[in-house]
Amino acid sequence: MMRIFVTIAFSFLYGSAVAAELIAIPLKADGLHDTSNPAYELLQEPAEALSLLPVDQNGKTDWVRSIQNGYIQPRTGLTGKEAMKELELEIVMKNTASMPHVMFSHSVHTQWLTCSSCHSRIFLPQIGANFITEKRIKAGEYCGVCHGKVAFSTEQCERCHTVTNEITGLR
Ligand code: HEC
Ligand code: HEC
Ligand code: HEC
Repeated sequence: MMRIFVTIAFSFLYGSAVAAELIAIPLKADGLHDTSNPAYELLQEPAEALSLLPVDQNGKTDWVRSIQNGYIQPRTGLTGKEAMKELELEIVMKNTASMPHVMFSHSVHTQWLTCSSCHSRIFLPQIGANFITEKRIKAGEYCGVCHGKVAFSTEQCERCHTVTNEITGLR
């Protein structure tokens, strides 16, 4: 359990988007671990730990399914005794041109993050108050502060654009 935790914490830090590639690198080749440290022997190979977790449409680790299905249980804070404040508030974002609309789920995000991770530095907490464009996401703003870094890649359009667009009928 401990060993899995160490690896998951590591891959979460470096992000699931890059994790899949990073993670395929054996510990001794990643340039981060000191192989001469006696504790090195205790570490689990990332590929072995990740092989137990569900994957998304692109074959990358699906962290949301991993937490929902109880495969992982990230610490709630430094001590592990802090309470998580989850919020059930789903927002459909419709400024998507001809693409399917975007579902933003607070509950998915507040299983990992606290309100101040996003409010109000990244998003004003008011529906429609943020002018989000794909270009700005790719430039690392808004959703792109995390997606493409510590959460799945901004190239995985279909994981965000999931809601039928009534005008184009695309899904
Ligand atoms: C991390 C989530 C996420 C991913 C991944 C994502 N988008 Fe978006 N996209 C959004 C959000 C949020 C908006 C803004 C919606 C709003 O403000 O109503 C948006 C808006 C858009 C828009 C309309 C605004 C504009 O800038 O033209 C287009 C087109 C678009 N996305 C295309 C794409 C394509 C193509 C991909 C894949 C290469 C993609 N998106 C991946 C979240 C995402
Ligand atoms: C991962 C980022 C993220 C986190 C974490 C987050 N939010 Fe939000 N929140 C958003 C986004 C995105 C919107 C929609 C903004 C928009 O439509 O432009 C939003 C909107 C809101 C709104 C506006 C609802 C309305 O009816 O106008 C409230 C209130 C809110 N959030 C409260 C919270 C609280 C409380 C928490 C912590 C329990 C939280 N949020 C955590 C991203 C986040
Ligand atoms: C502060 C960091 C942060 C921001 C900002 C953020 N996300 Fe996320 N998001 C995460 C993390 C962490 C996960 C879980 C790890 C993963 O799936 O890669 C996640 C997961 C998701 C999922 C997967 C839900 C599922 O059921 O599979 C979607 C969709 C998503 N985010 C959309 C968005 C959209 C749209 C925005 C912008 C409006 C956004 N996120 C902004 C961190 C963030």
